[in-house]
Amino acid sequence: MDLLVVGSGFFGLTIAERAASAGKKVVVIDRRSHIGGNAYSEAEPETGIEIHKYGAHLFHTSNETVWEYVNRFTKFTSYVHKVYSHHKGVVYPLPVNLGTINQFFQAAYSPEEARALIKEQAGEFDVKTAQNFEEKGIALVGRPLFEAFFRDYTAKQWQTDAKKLSGDIVSRLPVRYTYDNRYFNDKYEGLPVDGYTAWLEKMADHPNIEVRLNTDFFDESQPLNKKAVVGKTPVVYTGPVDRYFDYAEGELGWRTLDFEQEVVPVGDYQGTSVMNYPDANFEYTRIHEFRHFHPEREYPNDKTVIMREFSRFADKDDEPYYPVNTPDDRERLLKYRALTEQEPKVLFGGRLGTYQYLDMHMAIGSALSMWNNKLNESL
Ligand code: FDA
Repeated sequence: MDLLVVGSGFFGLTIAERAASAGKKVVVIDRRSHIGGNAYSEAEPETGIEIHKYGAHLFHTSNETVWEYVNRFTKFTSYVHKVYSHHKGVVYPLPVNLGTINQFFQAAYSPEEARALIKEQAGEFDVKTAQNFEEKGIALVGRPLFEAFFRDYTAKQWQTDAKKLSGDIVSRLPVRYTYDNRYFNDKYEGLPVDGYTAWLEKMADHPNIEVRLNTDFFDESQPLNKKAVVGKTPVVYTGPVDRYFDYAEGELGWRTLDFEQEVVPVGDYQGTSVMNYPDANFEYTRIHEFRHFHPEREYPNDKTVIMREFSRFADKDDEPYYPVNTPDDRERLLKYRALTEQEPKVLFGGRLGTYQYLDMHMAIGSALSMWNNKLNESL
C-alpha cells in the first residue's frame, strides 16, 4: 500500500482515483457501511425513487478543471435547480426576485421601481452599524421581505432568535431585480444521470484501489488504524480534525439536520423538488420531493417520496453538517491547524478535515489541488 485514504467522500475518492491512476496502490477506509460520504444516494425500496440520504445534493460548478474531471465518471442531466417558499399560505419563487417582490407587494414594479422600494425599506438600519442578524437583514433587504423569507427561517436553522444571532452569519441576502429564479449562478449544473452512488463507485473502480467499509480509523482492533499506520504510510485523512487529535483543543461546533422521510400515496406532492417553509409555525425548514430531481426517469405515478428537514446544533454523536464557526471555533481551529502541520506523513482534507463548508465541486477541486501540489511528487 502506497497511500491510505480515510473517508470515501468526494475528497477522499478524488485523491484515491488520482493516486491509483498514477500507479499507486491505495486503500480507502470508511466507517460507514457505504461509499460516498454525504453525497451517497440510494433507491427508496417501495418506489425506486433515488433519495439523497444526507440531504439534497445538486451539482454545480464554474470550474472548468473540475467539470472536465467529473465528466470522466458520469454524464449529467439538464436539471436546473429552482426553490420555492411557502409563506403564510402563499407560494413564492426564490431567491427573492422581481417575481417574488411583485407577488409579495401585489404590484407590477419595474426593476428600477423595485430597487428603489427595497432601498427605501432597507434604510431603517445601516449595514455598517447593524447590531445583530435581524438589523443587518433589514439593512440588506428591508423589513417586509426580511421578516417573510429570512428571519424565522434563519432562526429555525440556528435555533436562535434573529436578534441574538450575529450579523456576521451573513454578508448579503440574495435579491434579483429580474424574473430569473435559477438557484445557482454557475456555468455548469445538472444531476448525475445514473445517480450519485454510480458516479462515486465509478471513481473507486480501479484495480489499484481497495475500499474497506465499516472500518473506523480509530478502531485499534482493525489493522489500518491511526496508531498502526501514522508515520509509516502516507495518509490522507478526511474525518473530523478535532476527533483526530482526541479533542485536545476542545470540540469544534457543528449544526446537524434531522430528516423525516415519508412515502406519500400521491403522484406529485408539491410540484417541485424543494419547498422552503420560512414561517415559525412550521418546525421544519424545507420539504424535499425527490422525484422532481429526475423528471426524465420513469417513477410510479401513484406514490412519491418526501423528506422534511429539521435543523439543530449537533452533539458529539450526531452527523456534523455545517460548521458553526463561532470566534471560539475559529481559535480552536487555528490550534488544530498547528497540530496538523506536525503530523508525520498525514494530510488533512475535505469538509471535516478542514472544518469548512465545501460544495461538492469545491471538495473535488481542493482534492485535485492537494494531489497536484503536495502528494503527486511526494508519494
Ligand atoms: P464527506 O463527509 O462526504 O466524506 C467524509 C467521509 O469520511 C464520510 O464517509 C465519513 O464516514 C468518513 N469518516 C469520517 N471519520 C472517519 C473515521 N474515523 N474512519 C473512517 N472514515 C471516516 N454540495 C453541493 O455541491 N451541492 C449540494 O446541493 C449540497 N448539498 C448538501 C446538503 C447537506 C445537508 C450537506 C451537509 C452538504 C451538502 N453539500 C452539497 C456538500 C457535500 O456534501 C460535500 O461537498 C461533500 O460531502 C464533501 O465531501 P468530503 O469527502 O469532504 O466529506
